[in-house]
Amino acid sequence: MNKRITTATFRKMKKEAEKITILTAYDYPTAKLMDNSGVDALLVGDSLGMAVLGYEDTTKVTMDDMLHHIKAVARGAQRAMVIGDMPFLSYHISRSESVKNAGRIIQEGSAQAVKLEGGKEVIEDIKAIIKAGIPVMGHIGLTPQSVHKFGGYFIQGKTGKQAQSLIDDAIALEEAGVFSIVLETIPAQLGKEITDRLSIPTIGIGAGLNCDGQVLVAHDMLGLFQGRIPKHVKIYTDIGEQIESATAKYVDDVKNGEFPKEEHSF
Ligand code: KIV
Repeated sequence: MNKRITTATFRKMKKEAEKITILTAYDYPTAKLMDNSGVDALLVGDSLGMAVLGYEDTTKVTMDDMLHHIKAVARGAQRAMVIGDMPFLSYHISRSESVKNAGRIIQEGSAQAVKLEGGKEVIEDIKAIIKAGIPVMGHIGLTPQSVHKFGGYFIQGKTGKQAQSLIDDAIALEEAGVFSIVLETIPAQLGKEITDRLSIPTIGIGAGLNCDGQVLVAHDMLGLFQGRIPKHVKIYTDIGEQIESATAKYVDDVKNGEFPKEEHSF
């Protein structure tokens, strides 16, 4: 069995300028296949809400939803670090609830780290979670749990003031002890500037080539998601089309007496 990727591996990879690869995963078989393919970490993102549960945004996703899927992914991943997303309102009520929910992701979910959205406003919660021995990945820029505050999925950090605020957030997160930071939907130049300023790895999603690693929502890059696909996504295959054509063929075969054949019968 390959050795598990850890936060120490992430630090080493940044130091040695080796790019870090992350994909989202939400179930056991996909996690197993991705783990076999050599991805460094599997993020059980709250994008679960749209990708798998059919919600319009991530604000409906609960701790129970997340734990159900984190457990499945953790069972499938031997080498990749499993990072569990903290859903909307799971780290906003009180510090003790934030630590308790992060702890559930590690203890019940069997993840190795948690991720949560926000900068300076969540620093004290992040410090408390790290104090409990739980590695935290930060997430700034276009943070989807704040979609109603932003009024949509827009590029963040476009003005000098916004960019400075994101740089300040990134520095505050590093000082608080996060092991890496997701930078989502910001100008590539800002992605580079933040990456150059930090000694921890940045993981970009729509943040340009110069981040220390990249993350994509698996259902987007695999052609499984039927909704809006953001500009930053590269579609690597079209599993959605394969599922539709295989299903249509099966329906056809059964209707026409082509399935089952003798070799499928007892
Ligand atoms: O929920 C998620 O999948 C994420 C990624 C987009 C980084 O947070």
